[in-house]
Amino acid sequence: MPLVSSKEMFKGALKGGYAIGAFNVNNMEIVQGIVDAAVEEKAPLILQVSAGARKYARPEYLFHLVQAALETSNLPIVLHLDHGEDFEICKSCVDQGFTSVMIDGSKYPLEQNIAMTKKVVEYAHPRGVTVEAELGRLAGVEDAVSVAEKDAIFTDPAEALRFVEETGCDSLAIAIGTSHGAYKFKGTPTLDFERLEKIQKKLGDFPLVLHGASSVPADLVKACNDYGAKIPGAQGVPEDMITKATKTHVCKINIDTDLRLALTGTIRKCFAENPAEFDPRKYLGPARDAIKTVVKRKIKVLGCGGKA
Ligand code: G3H
Ligand code: 13P
Ligand code: ZN
Repeated sequence: MPLVSSKEMFKGALKGGYAIGAFNVNNMEIVQGIVDAAVEEKAPLILQVSAGARKYARPEYLFHLVQAALETSNLPIVLHLDHGEDFEICKSCVDQGFTSVMIDGSKYPLEQNIAMTKKVVEYAHPRGVTVEAELGRLAGVEDAVSVAEKDAIFTDPAEALRFVEETGCDSLAIAIGTSHGAYKFKGTPTLDFERLEKIQKKLGDFPLVLHGASSVPADLVKACNDYGAKIPGAQGVPEDMITKATKTHVCKINIDTDLRLALTGTIRKCFAENPAEFDPRKYLGPARDAIKTVVKRKIKVLGCGGKA
């Protein structure tokens, strides 16, 4: 099956009250672990590549790893650029054959974000490629943060409507309290679901995206720390909150950190337990299995199993 666009996937997710997992890929074992899980669970899949991943693995290698996944899996797969920072990288991915790109102008003033998003939409749409944009800042928020502070960083519902109308983007990443990495909350995890509801009321049936949505499961952090890592006090978005988000218009849930933790903990354990072993397949193989386990769990949390 060729790569698919996210349009149909998001329609299904909106209607069905589930979300699609968008997993960051950096190498062969990560691609394989994710795809093996999605095949077993019959889950539609978004494989996403950051600029850093593309540079690290080199554009041709990652692209062809995904082609191999298509040849061997018969799954609907979207290949997506994660956090494209300018028109040039979006264009390069559209030209290479990605079926979705993100232009992330969230750090710029609104007018500039609108202008750069519009330019990417004008290039991508005639070529059949969908565009994700971002409005609001993804920042870890402390318990005691004031309403005024939240208003300054989280997505404003009225601005979201103007942004979507003027840019023509296909989906919007919103800021409601999630953040990237393993340290998402200083106190009790909270997401601004009221704001999410206001945004979806304004936008109607429009796909929303949650970045920074890893759950940072305690067992994965412990596996790392038990074998020498120093990741104290890590905290992610609780799984029940992710499931709650999937029942809204959030159609795409971005996961990278949980994969990194699974991979790292497994490799650390292999090294600690088998110091005489130096065949890379002996630790990358178990790491690939660990990725698969995490993704299967994630698919259950998102409710997208059986939807492929
Ligand atoms: O949102 C960021 C993703 O986790 C990708 O991270 O830019 O280090 O590849 P990266
Ligand atoms: P996490 O760091 O929570 O995995 O988020 C990843 C992400 O948003 C990629 O764009
Ligand atoms: Zn992100």
